[in-house]
Amino acid sequence: MTGVICGTGSYTPAWVMDNNDIAKLVDTNDGWIQERTGVVRRHIIKDETTVSMAVESGKRALENAKVTAEEIDLILVATISSNVVLPCTACEVQKAIGATHATCFDIGGAACTGFVIAYNTAMVYLTSGVYKTALVIGSESLSTITNWKDRGTCILFGDGSGAVVLKAKEGKPYLPVTHSEGAKGMALTCKSRYERNGLTGASDIQELLSAEHFMQMDGQAVFKFAVKRVPEVVREVLTVNDVVQEEISYYILHQANKRIVEAVAKRLEEPLEKFPMNLQEYGNTSSASIPILLDEMNRQGKLKSGQKLVLVGFGAGLTWGASILEW
Ligand code: UT7
Repeated sequence: MTGVICGTGSYTPAWVMDNNDIAKLVDTNDGWIQERTGVVRRHIIKDETTVSMAVESGKRALENAKVTAEEIDLILVATISSNVVLPCTACEVQKAIGATHATCFDIGGAACTGFVIAYNTAMVYLTSGVYKTALVIGSESLSTITNWKDRGTCILFGDGSGAVVLKAKEGKPYLPVTHSEGAKGMALTCKSRYERNGLTGASDIQELLSAEHFMQMDGQAVFKFAVKRVPEVVREVLTVNDVVQEEISYYILHQANKRIVEAVAKRLEEPLEKFPMNLQEYGNTSSASIPILLDEMNRQGKLKSGQKLVLVGFGAGLTWGASILEW
């Protein structure tokens, strides 16, 4: 038994902050941000929340898959920026869409690897025969845990949500590969989370909290980690599954930084066209970046039946992992 993606959906907030807007908050400029990261603008919540975006992307994925909420056995939400600690975002999605039969839980700390870990978890349930249909969502309002006074991080992140519907199907599953290196966890940290409504609210809260309460990052350490580990894990997942690079149509990388994507393509000696990017529009949306990109490609008709894709997540923990899937 294996599992296949039979529908995708995404939601990104209407409110956009471009690089010039960021330059009003910290000492930076559009040229520097574009050159060092590739990011041009990011979508930021105003009235939305991690839950509301997850609900919307989930509904759109169900519509796209032509699957009803009652058919779903499992809802997984990958997030590091849930509205509240309890109840979990997945249960909130269940309530909103009426997926009364589903088992629901969040996958929290895997951060930017979160979607790949959630996808793998759902696949294990499907391939073992426990469940038949799963809704897997990545949803983040990173703007609520971003230090808007730190130019080393606030230039990077954005908000949004992406979702896929997975169905069990006869066939042999691909094996995923995942790794963690807790010893290097201090490269990317965040001490707490809180609810906020709009950037003004966040600014007020920022006065009350110290920098360690927001995401703090050793940018160069994370950059070096990604450029080394991502090509390694791609080669590993291909070897484990006896697949060669020529068979892969697209590498769907977590959208962290254009230079990371370019460096990975170079190290794998693959053309950049096989590495689709949308980080210029959304910035780094952590666990949401891969499913948002998948949804865009799906709706643009870029994904054809039978194509093989590699999904790669990497980030805080440190954690990283790759999965092969057939469209
Ligand atoms: O999901 C995973 C999450 N994290 C990541 O993917 C982050 C990976 N790392 C990165 O993307 C990059 O390290 C950054 C974009 C964060 C930083 O780029 P960098 O090329 O590593 O810059 P840097 O930290 O080496 O700084 C270079 C210079 C420094 O000035 P000096 O010392 O050379 O005079 C910084 O002070 O650029 C300065 N700088 C800035 N200048 C304008 C740092 N941030 C900014 C800024 N605007 N926002």
